[in-house]
Amino acid sequence: MAKALSMETHDHSSENTGNAQEHSFEKVNEIIAQHEGKKSQLISILQKVQEEYRYLPEEILTYIATALDISPATVYGVATFYAQFSLDPLGKYVIRVCDGTACHVRGSQSVLDAIRKKVGLADGQKTTKDLGFTVETVSCLGACGLAPVVMINDEVYGSMTPEAITEIIDTLQKREGDAE
Ligand code: FES
Repeated sequence: MAKALSMETHDHSSENTGNAQEHSFEKVNEIIAQHEGKKSQLISILQKVQEEYRYLPEEILTYIATALDISPATVYGVATFYAQFSLDPLGKYVIRVCDGTACHVRGSQSVLDAIRKKVGLADGQKTTKDLGFTVETVSCLGACGLAPVVMINDEVYGSMTPEAITEIIDTLQKREGDAE
């Protein structure tokens, strides 16, 4: 039985396309201004930019470097150091499958396989072509009692089975289909 621990769902579909080309730098300027253009605020700025675009587009990293008067290498260094940042576009739904010990021994691999199959990811592919889903594994999510655990955006699902997660994704896919 799926347990949703948090009902907060982040739906970026209407306001965010995930394509930086479609955005001006206006939003980035706003974010930089909110942080008073301080170099020390780089991580917060990157977090906000990623929330906005769902990833860190290359041209925006360069723009931030110029705006904060730091080298692009420094900005890239920070963006690639922290696992929370992605330099590639992420799907609207980011599915994180816990592969910590507790989840692993309780079948996280078969849950992961079921997810990848359901969203149609080829070997080595992380995000679907339509940017609907990104699937990745993470280490312990801190809810081992509910193993195996899966997060979809900010929502946590415990005691997952291949069947249960397939049903959940099916609902999301239908929701997206209806929205079109
Ligand atoms: S090992 Fe998966 S939540 Fe701890």
